[in-house]
Amino acid sequence: MIEEKKSLDVARVRSHFPMLKKTMHGKPLIYLDSAATALKPQVVIDAVQRYYTEEFGTVHRAVYELAGKATERYESVRKQVGQFLNAASSEEIIFTKGTTDAINLVAQTYGKAFVQAGDEIILSVLEHHSNIVPWQLLAKENGAVLKVIPCDERGVLLLDEYDGLLSERTKLVSVAHISNSLGTLHPVKEIILRAHARGVPVFIDGAQAVPHMEVDVQELDADFYAFSGHKAFGPTGVGVLYGKRKMLEKLPPYQGGGDMIERVFFEESTFQKPPLRFEAGTPPIAQVMGLGAALSFIESIGRGRIAAWEKALLEYATEKLLQIDGLSIVGTAPEKGAILSFVVKEIHPLDLGTLLDLKGVAVRTGHHCAQPALRRFSLPATTRASFAPYTTFEEIDNFIAALKEAILLLSPSLSY
Ligand SMILES: Cc1ncc(COP(=O)(O)O)c(C=O)c1O
Repeated sequence: MIEEKKSLDVARVRSHFPMLKKTMHGKPLIYLDSAATALKPQVVIDAVQRYYTEEFGTVHRAVYELAGKATERYESVRKQVGQFLNAASSEEIIFTKGTTDAINLVAQTYGKAFVQAGDEIILSVLEHHSNIVPWQLLAKENGAVLKVIPCDERGVLLLDEYDGLLSERTKLVSVAHISNSLGTLHPVKEIILRAHARGVPVFIDGAQAVPHMEVDVQELDADFYAFSGHKAFGPTGVGVLYGKRKMLEKLPPYQGGGDMIERVFFEESTFQKPPLRFEAGTPPIAQVMGLGAALSFIESIGRGRIAAWEKALLEYATEKLLQIDGLSIVGTAPEKGAILSFVVKEIHPLDLGTLLDLKGVAVRTGHHCAQPALRRFSLPATTRASFAPYTTFEEIDNFIAALKEAILLLSPSLSY
């Protein structure tokens, strides 16, 4: 691990990101909000531009050469995503608008086909709103019931409680791989194993995991797995839903329109096989090209190296933060992604975020789209710093210095 950390050439990684040359309020930008959305390397920007300027054409529709080539490239990214997640086949990869869209897709297809009044869906208390609200909308429509796995003071899910929630009424378990609000890396393999022992399929929201660690959907045995392109250094407007082939084949269409049909009559239509059955309309072609470049970029650094580098950053920043008087880290699980949420006594995170911004430091403040998670800790908001392979130890030092100055200004009674 230490060797891998050392082998990440951070200056080289940084040289790929034009945004890192920017200054904010006259200071070099220290971007610590990659959990919300990651910066884009030039190769991704180039791939999107190349599509528009040199390789433009629609997909799956026309016979002219440009359209044929665009289709080939679009489908080759599907294959690449399949390999990236170690799916058994690229037909298990559906392009969506993002993680949110992927979850809504499963709620509106699997949920409508297989979940009935009184059936139960298990979530965790640490989910992002996008892994709560789609299930809630479904439950409102069909009378299903949501059950919630609680967590302890560290933000670790209570698996004994989870066991108690699994029942013959459980139709799906849907949990994040890594919590976006606290950073907890959940034991998803174990969660899946326990659900499968009762014949229950599992959806994993991998939005915070895929850009930062190796993910093998077959090894996890996940039934569904989703992530967003923009958090993985790719463009906005594209994401991925992986679904086991035998599962996808059982699902009705999500949205209707072009591309997802075989034959259309006014009386009735027939539909394509997955994955095209779930990709109605002209897809986000440029974004898919950019996603392909983003995944190649991640591979060029190496996911093991990224994970090791971020782990070292997390340990370093955690130690530094804990030395600050009045500061508590929210989320102290032993296994975490590169996310640090914290509060400082008597200081509102919004004030901290505003002062940090003036020093060029971009952090997220608020409820992180996870209100129930923060409610669990009786907090309305935290400040969250999140790291990426372009984050440096020096940036963490500068962030800590800026934070101390901000705290001093907002609460002079706190000392160091
Ligand atoms: C764990 C998790 N799930 C889902 C989402 C939603 O992703 P998107 O807004 O890209 O659909 C996010 C975004 O912050 C997230 O962190």
